[in-house]
Amino acid sequence: MTKKIYLDYAATTPVDPRVIKAMLPYLSKKFGNTMSLHSFGQEAKEALEESREVIADLMKAKPNEIIFTSSATESNNLALKGIAFANRDRGRHIIISPIEHPCIIESAKWLETQGFEITKLKVDKYGLIDPDDIKKAIKKDTILVSIMHANNEIGTIEPIEEIGRICRERGVYFHTDAAQSFGKIPIDVNKMNIDLMTVSSHKMYGPKGAAALFIREGTKIEPLIHGGGHESGLRSSTVNVAAIVGLAEACKICKKEMGKEGRCLTRLSNKLIKGVLGKISGSHLNGHPKKRLPNNANFWFKGVEGESIVIQLDLLGIAASTGSACSSEKLEPSHVLLAIGLKPEQAHGSLRLSLGRWTTEKEINYVLKVLPEVIKKLRKISPFKESFKF
Ligand SMILES: Cc1ncc(COP(=O)(O)O)c(C=O)c1O
Repeated sequence: MTKKIYLDYAATTPVDPRVIKAMLPYLSKKFGNTMSLHSFGQEAKEALEESREVIADLMKAKPNEIIFTSSATESNNLALKGIAFANRDRGRHIIISPIEHPCIIESAKWLETQGFEITKLKVDKYGLIDPDDIKKAIKKDTILVSIMHANNEIGTIEPIEEIGRICRERGVYFHTDAAQSFGKIPIDVNKMNIDLMTVSSHKMYGPKGAAALFIREGTKIEPLIHGGGHESGLRSSTVNVAAIVGLAEACKICKKEMGKEGRCLTRLSNKLIKGVLGKISGSHLNGHPKKRLPNNANFWFKGVEGESIVIQLDLLGIAASTGSACSSEKLEPSHVLLAIGLKPEQAHGSLRLSLGRWTTEKEINYVLKVLPEVIKKLRKISPFKESFKF
């Protein structure tokens, strides 16, 4: 294979050419500031409000419930800290899962230094939260539960609807980080009882620098960024119209193609999973076999290091990852893999292959051809080769 194979769509996606086309006018002629009164400003404002409608539509929300931000990290920070500070007279207890993205975990840690109490629940071997644990953990002073929709490393999809129902019955705000799932699987914020939800453009074939936070009407929340009062006073700063138009176009495409694309990706990732587990002894699937994102495959291989696999695959033209894009530069084992019960040495032997819109069967066949060779070669040179047999 001479063409490079990109299997790291969970880290970021290329921008869909249709998205680029929709954005271009807003990078050139339609460059206005949405706060300006003249026609340039009004043209930009119109595009912003149309985009808000499109994004709201994909999650069955109202347009006035969408706040644009620069990233999922920012949306998650706003959700946690904004709810915490606006509701601290009601209580100071927040519940999260141990497999959240670092931007939730670190925000929660910081909130602890500000006098909030954080409960980190446990997950099972697949990374699933037991809704009963949420019931048990909610106290009188609980103000927020934040559980991600789908995990970025292992792809496990959480029982969000049930968790939302429990929170709603107890009058506790429910936030979900849907950075990995929005645009890939259907989401209805009303049916799923979601009060706040994070979505990200660059995980769904839109540009970087645009994201959104759904905030249910009537939710008490404080801004983190103060200034000119943009985005209903919740996120001041001149709006990145071109990127937001791109996010909206990405949503339109996902709405039209999600079903077909999801079925295709499920077929390809199932083929990949079945092939890897069948061809490579000492290989294991991380995450739930069924309740997983259509594009995610995550494995651990006995006796090899994930980083070495990624380097060897890169030499063969395949871009993969050991875990999340943020943690793959660190040498500590992934907190997600440790939370699902892997030992540090097992977590170190992990590989994430995340498929996307342009993944082909031919590419999957190529991976299935070369990966067993890579693992065999790495095991041969492993200093621990005497301690395991294959
Ligand atoms: C589930 C999840 N949440 C949040 C983020 C943070 O996104 P960003 O780095 O674009 O702010 C990511 C990125 O990998 C993610 O996968």
